[in-house]
Amino acid sequence: MELKILNKEEIYTAIKDEIAMLLRRKPNAVLGLATGSSPVGVYDELIKANKAGDIDFINVTSFNLDEYLGLAPTHNQSYRYFMNEHLFNHINIDKSKTHVPSTDKNSEDYYQTYDQKIQDHGGIDFQILGIGSNGHIAFNEPGTDFNSLTHIVSLKESTIKDNSRFFASISDVPTQAVSMGLKSIMNAKKIVIIITGSNKANALKRLMSKEVTTDFPASILNKHPSVTIYADKDAASLL
Ligand code: GLP
Repeated sequence: MELKILNKEEIYTAIKDEIAMLLRRKPNAVLGLATGSSPVGVYDELIKANKAGDIDFINVTSFNLDEYLGLAPTHNQSYRYFMNEHLFNHINIDKSKTHVPSTDKNSEDYYQTYDQKIQDHGGIDFQILGIGSNGHIAFNEPGTDFNSLTHIVSLKESTIKDNSRFFASISDVPTQAVSMGLKSIMNAKKIVIIITGSNKANALKRLMSKEVTTDFPASILNKHPSVTIYADKDAASLL
């Protein structure tokens, strides 16, 4: 794993540049996208670059990591809604090529065939990740099997608490989600993980300890051949 410590603006630009380079080489690349606050700055940069004509998304396919269970795609806290609002509505991507895992048996993004679908598209070329304070990636909570594929998860209390800031009250936060598994994520060819803010300092320290344990799901990234950690000074304060 390569660690780059930059300020937030530099992080967002650097990841946008990596994606721009990939799409120049492979215009029909498959992007793995994340929600949460961490990637929003990257999406802002991608929108700017698309509007300026520097990046073309017309042939891009995307797969999102996860989705809350029980929220309709039109709910303003669903991850489908988040992606439309923060990225897809503002770039020239074909929405039918954007995928978010679903528990709806009639959906083409039904979770039990989601990994197969990713493979059918040739796999994820570039995966963006954030991290939860307890080391979860996507919604893979501590204890998740390293061999897991897309599955239904019960959220830990700490995750529900962390994410309650987006809901009117903590009781509105869904307790379950559908998430790509740790193996699904490890199958990506290249992974970048964004870790910013002092509330993520412990998580970054633990990730850098190189100990691989299911108690800290992100630690599996130590075994991936191509991971870049983009951290800011606050997150790196305990290193
Ligand atoms: C949620 C998402 C994760 C994300 C995490 C951290 O739990 N399922 O994919 O990494 O939040 O979010 P933030 O970037 O807002 O700290």
